[in-house]
Amino acid sequence: MTKISIRQPDDWHLHLRDGELLKLVLPHTAQQFGKALIMPNVVPPIITTDDAYTYRQEILSGLDSHVDFNPLMSLYLTEDTNPVDVEKGIENGLVKAVKLYPAGATTNSSNGVRDFNTIGTTLEVLSKYKVPLCVHGEIVDGEVDIFDREAEFTKRILSPIHRNFPDLKIILEHITTKEAIDFVHHTPDNVAATITVHHLVINRNHIFKGGIRPHYFCLPIAKREFHRQHLVEVATSGHPSFFLGTDSAPHTVGAKESACGCAGIFTAPVALPVLAHIFENEDSLDKLEGFTSIFGANFYGEPLNPIFVTLEKSNEPIKQLSQVSSNDLQVAVFDPEFDIHWYVKDQDD
Ligand code: NCD
Ligand code: ZN
Repeated sequence: MTKISIRQPDDWHLHLRDGELLKLVLPHTAQQFGKALIMPNVVPPIITTDDAYTYRQEILSGLDSHVDFNPLMSLYLTEDTNPVDVEKGIENGLVKAVKLYPAGATTNSSNGVRDFNTIGTTLEVLSKYKVPLCVHGEIVDGEVDIFDREAEFTKRILSPIHRNFPDLKIILEHITTKEAIDFVHHTPDNVAATITVHHLVINRNHIFKGGIRPHYFCLPIAKREFHRQHLVEVATSGHPSFFLGTDSAPHTVGAKESACGCAGIFTAPVALPVLAHIFENEDSLDKLEGFTSIFGANFYGEPLNPIFVTLEKSNEPIKQLSQVSSNDLQVAVFDPEFDIHWYVKDQDD
């Protein structure tokens, strides 16, 4: 097959940042995706409905007038989150998800949750309105090996939350392990997972191949090849509880290539071509649309995008952007280390 037309995709986990960096990275998502769930871990974080309103306006004002892109807002859950404010944000249609960061788990998560008993009232509000709790599922306990943090979180924290709030919609974000896949399989369909592009491509060897490779460092950290293979299998299986959240997470080259480099991989510019490559390899191009464009919207109860996009395969490899830049900002683009032949055809090609 050399051409495939799919409903326009959505990205259910996206970091857009703010200021100049926002302006630099936004077009790479807005040109290809219909909507995206915007992560709230900017500085300071998006905690209240008012914060979300202001941040959404900033995003909208960075869009070209002809681009039809809908940023869907999430709130950053803290131990002091006001459930009444969350309810207000949901009722006025602004708040589409609440994000749980265990404090210290990842980039800008220091305002996150330490004591999971403090968030019950907000979880009740989410259950009542069937609004998802998006979870960064990693234990922060320094005693737990970095490669075991997701599996341990699923066991120690997520299972009890699910037991105590059985009607709560939960999305285990950017899953990286067979244990997380099993957790979703063994729970009812109000529990789902997002999968990134990069976790379908890299395993933990990539981070250390020939030296330390900061541009392959993200959290949760990539795991063994065994887990990557399970992720590819479930992403390409057509199971509606697993859908795309790129976790495209831009940091400047300087912030990545440092003695204490930031976690996060910027994948937005290459996300769809790389996914087409992966699904084609699995003989599952017919499952791509469900993963990118249908299952997530259905889980969130959001409309499917009305337009379709065409992906075409060229005989020759397509030259990819290696970085995006503006003034003094430079951000490296994810390199899958294989030739990419797929590209998104412009609407008017
Ligand atoms: C994300 C970021 O940079 O904001 N980093 C990452 O490695 N994925 C935060 C996150 O989603 O963990
Ligand atoms: Zn993220």
